[in-house]
Amino acid sequence: MDDDQIMSSQTNDEQEESLEVSLRPRLLSEYIGQSRIKRELSVYIKAASEREEALDHVLLYGPPGLGKTTLAMVIANEMHVNIKTTSGPAIEKPGDLVALLNELEAGDVLFIDEIHRLPKIVEEMLYSAMEDYYIDIVVGQGPTAHPVHFPLPPFTLIGATTRAGVLSAPLRDRFGIVEHMNYYEPAELEQIVKRTAGIFNAEIETAGAKELALRSRGTPRIANRLFKRVRDFAQVGGHDSIDKGIVSSALTMLRVDQRGLDEVDNKLLTTIINYYGGGPVGLNTLAANIGEEANTIAEMYEPYLLQIGFLSRTPRGRVATQAAYTHLGLEYPDKRGEK
Ligand SMILES: Nc1ncnc2c1ncn2[C@@H]1O[C@H](COP(=O)(O)OP(=O)(O)OP(=O)(O)O)[C@@H](O)[C@H]1O
Ligand SMILES: [Mg+2]
Repeated sequence: MDDDQIMSSQTNDEQEESLEVSLRPRLLSEYIGQSRIKRELSVYIKAASEREEALDHVLLYGPPGLGKTTLAMVIANEMHVNIKTTSGPAIEKPGDLVALLNELEAGDVLFIDEIHRLPKIVEEMLYSAMEDYYIDIVVGQGPTAHPVHFPLPPFTLIGATTRAGVLSAPLRDRFGIVEHMNYYEPAELEQIVKRTAGIFNAEIETAGAKELALRSRGTPRIANRLFKRVRDFAQVGGHDSIDKGIVSSALTMLRVDQRGLDEVDNKLLTTIINYYGGGPVGLNTLAANIGEEANTIAEMYEPYLLQIGFLSRTPRGRVATQAAYTHLGLEYPDKRGEK
């Protein structure tokens, strides 16, 4: 490759990257769906701005890819403040947290993704930081060790987690605003797909956008990812506009089925049905059988299958519902005569 080619391929990458960034809505008014959350947040943002105070701490929880990181950035934009982003596992020791907090100006947002993975000792330092805007640290060692009281500017902590249930109560209780993100409706995903197509300068027919929306597991990140692959198929096939047929055939090739379920979803359901008579079966047994982490199943796969009613959770384990049998083209056993 000569220099010119290297230059131009870099420019293409850069273009794709900046497109990726521009996919993230910047304002609440551009953020599609989650209307209840938007309505509430706009009140809290307006009130805090009018009082010239930092917004109360916000906890966002819900399955991956629903727009938690995006929403945190939108909140900072709407408050006209800076945002620092980090994640739970990246803050290994108290000093890391002190360094982050030290950079904040009054009103700024500190965004901690995967906040359920903060080390305990760091989490405990956050308590006073969140509640009274100070931290106490011990400086030095042995006989010269002494506590230092470190005041902080008022700031907003935005925490994101896929698992609100595993947050400790003292941490959870320090968030004044707690929002549960839900899966998106097909009509909302259709809007997201059309917006993405516009940003990528690609044409998509309404029926094509609807089909893509139905097969995106209620998740904007998946809709955007699938859109990019479908766009590749359309381009290589020489189509100017993406229609329903192209979406269908591309997604089938990608093994995304009519309801947006992928191979892991299907394996999960068929394992329950074929090996455990439809269930109940425990999460760990199921995970071992299909070769996935129990956590991955609990956070990424199960919530959507529960949402669309293909799976139900009982005290004795997971059960495949009649809808799941029907979807897989299997006959639902009549269990009434049993036992
Ligand atoms: N409401 C929305 N409107 C338009 N696009 C959205 C919306 N929410 C998310 N997106 C798009 O979906 C992608 C994923 O969003 P984001 O990274 O914010 O998800 P997340 O909830 O933080 O995921 P994770 O839990 O994996 O960190 C983003 O690139 C963004 O462009
Ligand atoms: Mg994120």
